[in-house]
Amino acid sequence: MFLVHATGMLRFSNQRLMERRVYITVLFVLFFGVLSQGQNFFSKEDLMVLGVYYYPEHWSPGQWERDIKNIAEHGFEFIHMAEFAWAQMEPNEGSYDFSWLDKVIKLADENGLKVILGTPTPCPPVWLSQKHPDIFIRDADYQLKEHGTRANMSLSNPIVLEYTQKIVAEMGKRYGKHKAVMGWQIDNEPEAKEDYSEAAQDAFRIWLKKKYSSIESLNKAWGTAFWSQLYSSFEQVNIHNASNVGWWGTNPMALLDFKRFTADNQAAFLDFQADELRKYIDESQFITTNYVAKGNGADPRRSTKMDFASFTAYPNYGSSNLGDLGFRLGDYSVLMYANDYYRSVDGITGVMEIQPGQVNWANHNSLLQPGTVRMWLWHCFAGGSSYACSYRYRQVLYGAEQYHHGIVATDGISLSQGGKEYVQVMKEMNFLKETYSSKSKMPKSIEKRKAAIMWSFDNLWNLERQKQTYQWDTWKHMQRYQAILHSFGAPVDFISEKDDFNDYPFIIAPAYEMVDLALVQKWKKYVEQGGNLIISTRTGAKDKNAHLWESNLSGIMSELIGGKINTFDMLPASKKGDVAMADKLYKWSSWGDQITAGDKAEVLATYNDQFYKGDACVISHTLGKGKVWYIGVESVDGLLEKDVLKEAFESSGVAIENYPEGVFVMYRDGFMVAVNYSSENYELEYSGKYLIGEKILEPACVSVWKSK
Ligand code: GAL
Repeated sequence: MFLVHATGMLRFSNQRLMERRVYITVLFVLFFGVLSQGQNFFSKEDLMVLGVYYYPEHWSPGQWERDIKNIAEHGFEFIHMAEFAWAQMEPNEGSYDFSWLDKVIKLADENGLKVILGTPTPCPPVWLSQKHPDIFIRDADYQLKEHGTRANMSLSNPIVLEYTQKIVAEMGKRYGKHKAVMGWQIDNEPEAKEDYSEAAQDAFRIWLKKKYSSIESLNKAWGTAFWSQLYSSFEQVNIHNASNVGWWGTNPMALLDFKRFTADNQAAFLDFQADELRKYIDESQFITTNYVAKGNGADPRRSTKMDFASFTAYPNYGSSNLGDLGFRLGDYSVLMYANDYYRSVDGITGVMEIQPGQVNWANHNSLLQPGTVRMWLWHCFAGGSSYACSYRYRQVLYGAEQYHHGIVATDGISLSQGGKEYVQVMKEMNFLKETYSSKSKMPKSIEKRKAAIMWSFDNLWNLERQKQTYQWDTWKHMQRYQAILHSFGAPVDFISEKDDFNDYPFIIAPAYEMVDLALVQKWKKYVEQGGNLIISTRTGAKDKNAHLWESNLSGIMSELIGGKINTFDMLPASKKGDVAMADKLYKWSSWGDQITAGDKAEVLATYNDQFYKGDACVISHTLGKGKVWYIGVESVDGLLEKDVLKEAFESSGVAIENYPEGVFVMYRDGFMVAVNYSSENYELEYSGKYLIGEKILEPACVSVWKSK
């Protein structure tokens, strides 16, 4: 990743600058090249290693040997343990019992399995909660959470940090040099949970002081002149609690800062543990954590001490998905997003948990269409996962997750449908390894399509706070663009403002609401030097404090997009408006900007009805060697957005595919991988020899062939 960015830096520079940069780049690559080797915990030849969760504490010790042996015989390469077992590792304060874990790690080692260990901080033991009943989160009703579940501790509480440090250090000392331990998962599915405890209030004030220095700056940023909210000292500031103030009336800037603080605090908790572990562990052991696929407030880019970000994926969660079979095939956007997003954070990722069959917590827990688990695993492979781990090996007989499928059924031995598919994938992966070549390169035709999506959680939080219409859904808005890019067969990364833009011929900024001058200038430079920037509605509507501009709605974006946004409209869901573009009509309903295009901009689409018929809603603007497209309307079915993007790619001379929704055809390490979440057969174009699967790709099926 460093290398990619470093070479990207060389583009579009003048000669002298270029020579200086070549020198700096060589140093950079030499230095980070060494570092990144150390950071490369997975070898490319292994493609994707597969493992499974095992909870020895749930089973009689007499069964451990049998289970571990079976896991190895099925073909798994590693097991994952301990992330909820604090009570077993420290049954009484300061008295540790690792004997049970020692035994299972030894068994794993003897059976050729590696181990990922979880730190047990989601689940404080009862002795800790009895000694310090205030370690828990206080919810929005100021109710203190209590012992008996997980993810309930206040991460702002110094006592929590004290005990966390002790158990993490003990684990690090014991297993940090163990040859079977390949890596660590910190905590579980880190979540930035709202916490209104005293400890959180104090920590929030400290965070605010650091951010604003003076109370006057806070007053200005939060706009406290509104409704008599003025503060004269930081000590007066409490977390704005929307449950009590009323959602519609709560200060959106104060809420945004609370979200930012909570995410920072959560990231600091992970980094705190990582720092502690690093004192003891061998450098061959990685440190990661398992973010929930679509996130739950935790922001991996706020942590700086992880080696890479992993994710958990439960694609079938009772939602109504694409097509007739969608309820059995899962929501394709889960892995579509998680693959691209988490891989982009540090250049390496893996799926730490993936659903092996039915779960116990969805709205309805349907059986999966046979083949689905296999398809998901291949989708993870295509998306770049270095490893895939199934949650869980055995279906537990008691506890909250009784009805959750495992790789084996309730008898502890027989493979479930998902288990059989896992075994199949492990065999297929071994088969694929035989034809892997380290010399393989992404075909030029695919590389030319490389696209990046700009995405930040700050924008998501703020937009979700002020949707303005029940039809607005920030995730769906962004994922629509991601799905279009995948339908073109484009490789997609997610980038932040800090990243180098020049590695991507196409950048999409979907509803990137808060901007500053530095970002707008960076975008402008990118375009002037030949980049294609596609910006969608609501982008740049606010500054970084979430204030509107004291000009028009496009504020400091006007020059970049080549026009001004005067106002926006929205219709009730039952009403659809018309947009005309070229010789086609499109329907819209949720969001429509009215734009006055400047002299240099080209109007691509206009409204075809309503009292503002003829006003522009999509414009493009050539700037230097590149072009900006501003898509100021959200269409009902995404066809308008697709046609604009198509024009953007084709006018740059980049040929694209047209895969149907739910069909993904992706390149990885010399292979083309196709998976099908739709309920229809899809005929692939490739007519050579398929390594796996065939030309007709049925629903829930997979085809793999060697790329040219
Ligand atoms: C995940 C969680 C696992 C397990 C699983 C059940 O969200 O990380 O520990 O509870 O759900 O589906």
